[in-house]
Amino acid sequence: MPAVRADKLYKVFGKKAGKAVELLSDGRHRDEIADLNVTAAVIDVSFEVEPGEIFVVMGLSGSGKSTLIRMLNGLLAPTSGRVEVDGTDITALPKQGLRKLRSEKISMVFQHFALFPHRTVKENAAYGLEVRGVPREAREAKAVEALELVGLAGWEDKVPGQLSGGMQQRVGLARALAADTDIILMDEAFSALDPLIRRDMQTQLLELQETLGKTIIFITHDLNEAMRLGDRICVLRDGRTAQIGTAEEILNDPANDYVAQFVEDVDRTRVLTASSVMEAPIPVVAPDNGPRAALRTMRENQTSYAFVQRRDRRLVGGIKESAVGKAVRENAKDLSALVDAGIERVSPDTAIADLFAQAAESTFPLAVVDGDERLVGVIPRGTLLAALAPPEENGADDAADGGAEGEEADGAEDAESAGDGAGSDGDGDRKDGAEKGAEGAADEEPAAAEEGGSK
Ligand SMILES: Nc1ncnc2c1ncn2[C@@H]1O[C@H](COP(=O)(O)OP(=O)(O)OP(=O)(O)O)[C@@H](O)[C@H]1O
Ligand SMILES: [Mg+2]
Repeated sequence: MPAVRADKLYKVFGKKAGKAVELLSDGRHRDEIADLNVTAAVIDVSFEVEPGEIFVVMGLSGSGKSTLIRMLNGLLAPTSGRVEVDGTDITALPKQGLRKLRSEKISMVFQHFALFPHRTVKENAAYGLEVRGVPREAREAKAVEALELVGLAGWEDKVPGQLSGGMQQRVGLARALAADTDIILMDEAFSALDPLIRRDMQTQLLELQETLGKTIIFITHDLNEAMRLGDRICVLRDGRTAQIGTAEEILNDPANDYVAQFVEDVDRTRVLTASSVMEAPIPVVAPDNGPRAALRTMRENQTSYAFVQRRDRRLVGGIKESAVGKAVRENAKDLSALVDAGIERVSPDTAIADLFAQAAESTFPLAVVDGDERLVGVIPRGTLLAALAPPEENGADDAADGGAEGEEADGAEDAESAGDGAGSDGDGDRKDGAEKGAEGAADEEPAAAEEGGSK
């Protein structure tokens, strides 16, 4: 059973929302229904997130990411469609049930930390449990544990103002971990951080995820972040799903021009791994083959090399046509003296960027071997270079457009900051904003008020 299921979700703001859904479900673009005076934020979005998966929702500003995530935890009611959490249709739950669901099953981490400035780090981390009514001692013990997980041991009794941005965001993460919900929603959680700290946080999240195995729905407008974190990525465009797939699927097989342009600037060498570019492991010969048989195998495959592999597929090494040819002329009966056992081996998960040095050192194609030293693929040097080029459909002349859209996404980031009620525009405002945000983390009131106000 999926941990979270979105089924034909729509969120339209405005009086004529119902009419709008009708037209949108007929395939109209949201711009075409402008005369209805509505904002179609999320349009016909469906997906399933499996337990333990990191599912990233990516899109430019205004594409509907925050609206979508707020429907997933019931902060916003869909205009149409349903949301299931662990098989329960949450759109049918009464208020009380929703609140319980949010405190027990789903935590949320915001972009602007949403910490209480006058409470200690420990109290902030314990907040989700406090809302749930867990006694002080028990919740603080949990909080201390969670703070240790995110690398903040020793900071428990400080207040947020004494911490750097990156550390404050760790407190936000610790709060979600302390609450010990299976599902964590993260809305642009790392977007306010400096690039290096942001990268650290991504690494830490991936490391934590290895052991914790949470179901994480992570929102970002940053494609590189999406590709790095996401087991699968949902690309939103103007409220609709443009594509859902793994990073590799999206890079290598973009569903449309929009996605193709979007992914053009991605550092493919960091996203694609050896397993995504390797070719079938041929030709192979057995260690007890004679030189004559080995030579024939190479000729049949039109290569100047072959891999030597035991019957259990474990790699022994490689042989070269020149050496084998010479052995045949000299009537040698045995291959073993010709085998180069030191040929370069790489694991299937190695990023392409990390293959170049090894490829340059080797006169053999790289041998891709699994944990048991079994040969699972080969990467000839030409294949490695070809992998650097984007798929052919993305013509180079689209590059300028792709770049421009990327910038738009960046610029828009600031505009969003008020969105979660956790604004941080200047120190003067920080206190208020943070208090509000922290409440937002546990209660639907802020979002509900926001929705009402828009009508
Ligand atoms: N409460 C609301 N009332 C009216 N319109 C809204 C409301 N919330 C969001 N919208 C509109 O819905 C659209 C999607 O907004 P949303 O905040 O979901 O986008 P986003 O992808 O999270 O953008 P960003 O990257 O800027 O955070 C926007 O046009 C926004 O103005
Ligand atoms: Mg948003």
